[in-house]
Amino acid sequence: MIKIKKFKKGDERKLSYLSRKCIVLINSKDITKKETAILYNHFTPGRFIQDAKRFKIYVAEYNNKIAGTATFDEGWIRAVFVNPIFHEKGIGKELMMHLEKIAKKFGFRSVNLKSSPFAKNFYNKIGYKKIKDIKGEVGHMILMKKKL
Ligand SMILES: CC(C)(COP(=O)(O)OP(=O)(O)OC[C@H]1O[C@@H](n2cnc3c(N)ncnc32)[C@H](O)[C@@H]1OP(=O)(O)O)[C@@H](O)C(=O)NCCC(=O)NCCS
Repeated sequence: MIKIKKFKKGDERKLSYLSRKCIVLINSKDITKKETAILYNHFTPGRFIQDAKRFKIYVAEYNNKIAGTATFDEGWIRAVFVNPIFHEKGIGKELMMHLEKIAKKFGFRSVNLKSSPFAKNFYNKIGYKKIKDIKGEVGHMILMKKKL
């Protein structure tokens, strides 16, 4: 059973762990070692605490275990990660649907994100369209948009 909750203090270690697990096991295949290190070093437990002060961070639970996260920041969806042991169970889609609902509630008519190469077809499947390729300090990303 999937439940989406708001981030609360105490979640940060598990969110850091599952994000870093995705970065090391999955995203690292498409980027350099340096880019992987930048991403890995970004997603500390402290980063989630800091970001929770400015953005809306959501946590997905699967059978009462923390399994994924996504952040909403003024029309942007960021830091979407699902623990690889829970992939392909509908958790990512449920998180995205939740954030899109929040975006709508706050009056946004579209949402943007920067997709990893790995996640591009996932986002395509749930209605996101590619705007352009971008090259940042964490490698190749795909700017995508969905009209709500
Ligand atoms: C991308 C990610 C969030 C998807 O999470 P998930 O919980 O496995 O996705 P879901 O189970 O909700 O998948 C929904 C649908 O997309 C499909 N899908 C999931 N990941 C996919 C992928 N990488 N490529 C193509 N299709 C994918 C599923 O098969 C499912 O299809 P269905 O509706 O026909 O059954 C997860 O793979 C992840 O954390 N990846 C690593 C981190 C990452 O790259 N995050 C994005 C940063 S921008």
